[in-house]
Amino acid sequence: MSRGLFITLEGIEGAGKSSNLSHVQDLLARTGRDVIVTREPGGTALGERIRELLLHSRDVDISADTETLLIFAARADHLQKLVSPALAQGKSVVCDRFTDATFAYQGGGRRVAHKRIATLETWVQGELRPDLTLLFDVAAKIGLERAGNRSSPDRFEREDREFFERVRQAYLEAARREPARIRVIDASANPAEVRSQVDRVMEDFLRGVD
Ligand code: TMP
Repeated sequence: MSRGLFITLEGIEGAGKSSNLSHVQDLLARTGRDVIVTREPGGTALGERIRELLLHSRDVDISADTETLLIFAARADHLQKLVSPALAQGKSVVCDRFTDATFAYQGGGRRVAHKRIATLETWVQGELRPDLTLLFDVAAKIGLERAGNRSSPDRFEREDREFFERVRQAYLEAARREPARIRVIDASANPAEVRSQVDRVMEDFLRGVD
């Protein structure tokens, strides 16, 4: 049996990636694939507990290195228990964020060295990389304005505009390095236009694998 497809969605807060998750799931399901949707950090009981620590710790300080290690600890659990077994069974996996987020947030945002993250990536993932990544790109100002409507911001949402601009630039650099895998969606457009960009990218991708 061939391995399932591994598709990830990325972007800064307010880029609208999460509202396109189930759409990507539907597009894959329409081709007869068995699809699971998951997220990082999270996706397993332990991963969700680590997510809680990362997003909602108010009373403890978490350094950039510790944050990076916690994210990869959650990722190791997620891959071992959920993602890798599903892919091996031929299921497709759609994941809301993955390691590109670590290069963008911890690398670009928190300035953790790219090499350190790459070492953890190899340790935790081996050869596994997404087959396709949809990068929902929007200026930090617009993303933050959209996300600003959320009532209680988490540890990341409390960061300033410069942080998210660095995160955005790190994502765009990754897309320039790997244009075949990381497809940039202009997320400043209206939701219908964003969705049709997603449709076009998915059609193009599925034509290549089917
Ligand atoms: P979200 O999935 O609701 O967007 O929130 C997850 C937050 O975690 C988001 O602010 C980005 C952050 N994050 C990282 O900083 N590094 C990572 O590797 C991942 C997966 C998420």
